[in-house]
Amino acid sequence: MRFNARATSLAAAGIALALLAGGCGADEGDGSGNGGGGTKKVEVFTWWADGGEKQGLDGLVSQFKTDCSQYEFVNGAVAGGAGSNAKQVLASRLQQSDPPDTFQAHAGAELADYIKAGQIEDLSAQYKEWGLSSAFPKGLVDSLTVGGKIYSVPANIHRANVLWANKKVLADNGITSVATTLPQFFTQLDTLKAKGITPLALGKDWTQQMLFEAVLISDLGTDKYIGLWTAKTDWAGSDVTTAINDYKKLLDYTNKDRDSLDWTDAEKQVMDGKAAFQLMGDWEAADMDAKGFKDYSYTVFPGNGNAYQWLADSFVLPKGAKNPEGTKCWLKTVGSAAGQKAFNTKKGSIPARTDTVAADYPAYQQSAIADWAKDVAVPSCPHGSACSQGWQGAVNSAQGKFSSDGDVAGLQKALVAAAKQFAGK
Ligand code: GAL
Repeated sequence: MRFNARATSLAAAGIALALLAGGCGADEGDGSGNGGGGTKKVEVFTWWADGGEKQGLDGLVSQFKTDCSQYEFVNGAVAGGAGSNAKQVLASRLQQSDPPDTFQAHAGAELADYIKAGQIEDLSAQYKEWGLSSAFPKGLVDSLTVGGKIYSVPANIHRANVLWANKKVLADNGITSVATTLPQFFTQLDTLKAKGITPLALGKDWTQQMLFEAVLISDLGTDKYIGLWTAKTDWAGSDVTTAINDYKKLLDYTNKDRDSLDWTDAEKQVMDGKAAFQLMGDWEAADMDAKGFKDYSYTVFPGNGNAYQWLADSFVLPKGAKNPEGTKCWLKTVGSAAGQKAFNTKKGSIPARTDTVAADYPAYQQSAIADWAKDVAVPSCPHGSACSQGWQGAVNSAQGKFSSDGDVAGLQKALVAAAKQFAGK
């Protein structure tokens, strides 16, 4: 894996506190006062409430129960893909100094939001104590580090730019191999459209960001794509215009109700054979498995070549957590080889640790482990590795508007403005 330092550096990433403004916790104590003599409960806040995501969490919890039997897991999950609801609930709890004992945060710029707001603790001492510094790739640890301090424990590496398909639908329509370029892909989508099948299933806001980013990677290539997030590539450039036009063309092949669907609703259209393809992160492998649907294929998005669009879920110790010792036990499990295996074999992701035994994993993850070892790592904005939450929000609303008005110049202008507002601050 070639982790690009520019893409993972928190210092280079835009930092926005819009969602988290004023959220600095008032309680600077070690939590003992809050726990009323030592609570056993460890509230773990995620958005993994259902399907493969829940199964991944359950795997981690079962390891926690073994490693940390003195503590009690409390599930603080708030449903909604990519944290679309959870992040708002969390922001308001942090503002009210009512943090869970730990919460899910994406490595990269999104984590930096919480660090800049003073909402999470430095875990450098735990990294030393648990031998974690050498357990993860350096580029990943860099994405968790600000000012020499490491702030979270990564649970996994997910890949965002995967094209999933219903194999039977493809075979029934004479599609024997998935396209490797955008023009080839458009031809296949035309074939499917002519048969009355939804060629490409799509959901709302953040899922549209993902599709657009996949097109940007195809049209700009990995270096220029990475540069979009580090102020090296101009969002006003003609290659970005080309990508917006390609993306607009792709929207014509998607379901009209896209703005009201979560990723699992779009996935269902594929599983039900109503749609052929879906661009989605590799949590989809676990979710389809969990739902008993086996007839799926996966390929990198057409034109993305050897780009591995990465994101990592990690867990933190919030300032003012009621049970910091219980949280540390959770974090130790998250970072352990056993914890990563229990979680990732069920979650569709690959372990963040480098001591993975690929044979322990399902077929999809085995192929992802092989790709991660050789591909080029590029970041994702909706999943926090590329941009802050403020930037995510600005792109989301621009794309939501574009989904209904299709105004290419309007979208590009909004993307330029978002980059200006958030990049490099
Ligand atoms: C991502 C998260 C993944 C998965 C996905 C869909 O942001 O990192 O673990 O949960 O959202 O909900």
